[in-house]
Amino acid sequence: MELLEGNNLSMVFGGLSALNSVDIKINKGEVLSIIGPNGAGKTTLFNLLTGIYSPTEGKICFRKKEIKNLKPYEITRLGIARTFQNIRLFKEMSVLDNVMIGQHCRTKAGIFGAIFKTPAVRREESFVRDKVMDVLEFVGLDDVYKEKAKNLPYGKQRRLEMARALATDPELVLLDEPAAGMNHQETNDLIKLIEKLNDMGKTVLLIEHDMKLVMDISRRIMVLDYGKKIADGSPDEVKNDEKVIKAYLGDDFRKENEGTDEIKRVKEARRTKEVKQAKEAYVC
Ligand SMILES: Nc1ncnc2c1ncn2[C@@H]1O[C@H](COP(=O)(O)OP(=O)(O)O)[C@@H](O)[C@H]1O
Ligand SMILES: [Mg+2]
Repeated sequence: MELLEGNNLSMVFGGLSALNSVDIKINKGEVLSIIGPNGAGKTTLFNLLTGIYSPTEGKICFRKKEIKNLKPYEITRLGIARTFQNIRLFKEMSVLDNVMIGQHCRTKAGIFGAIFKTPAVRREESFVRDKVMDVLEFVGLDDVYKEKAKNLPYGKQRRLEMARALATDPELVLLDEPAAGMNHQETNDLIKLIEKLNDMGKTVLLIEHDMKLVMDISRRIMVLDYGKKIADGSPDEVKNDEKVIKAYLGDDFRKENEGTDEIKRVKEARRTKEVKQAKEAYVC
């Protein structure tokens, strides 16, 4: 059964077409991966599906309901959660508090209740805390729940981000390059964790560069290049697809288009973004 469907999705940023008439269909219970070179539009697609941007064109339905104009928190409430490409944690806060924060979309306490801690709010907090501890146990962080986020090793920080997303009870989980920067052992542990998530019935949409991870766990792979979908199929189909081989190995498309304004614009935008990402990574 189809859980999410995006049709004809386009996103233009100041004249640059980041995504160009892309269709995406995610079936309930599957692990679908999106791959493609840097700047291909993968994160932009996540940003459209989670309400960070509204597409310039196209439709997005989750459980047959149009979500294109909903706010990110409304989309989270419907059952879509995500992690980000760059780690976004509250470094000085505990592991537990980092996940509790992700729960606010499901709690009922208003400002008054939250400030004066009414009995109802205390009951709710204790319920949330138990639930959060269950999620921490699931991702293997229950023993460090009091630790400040900044003191965790990198692989565990990425798990903490996943825990925060999972604590919102999503049906669909979007992971943006979860293995980036991980060592071999951490990547293998991550593969097991994603499989466990999927076994529990969660549908997973994954952006990833690590081909071992992608080939191991995806039922289907979709390939983006220069904002366009160039392939969509099983890992075997995609591995042998000529357009995909060209996109990765180089490069009839680029040769054909070398020197055109479109290519110049895309290259420049990629360079700017890479510099920005490198700076952000340094700050983290
Ligand atoms: N908020 C933005 N403003 C301007 N350009 C953007 C923005 N977000 C993404 N882009 C551009 O859109 C293109 C696709 O980016 P992105 O979706 O992040 O690619 P990927 O995740 O595949 O590496 C890039 O050229 C990028 O610079
Ligand atoms: Mg990206």
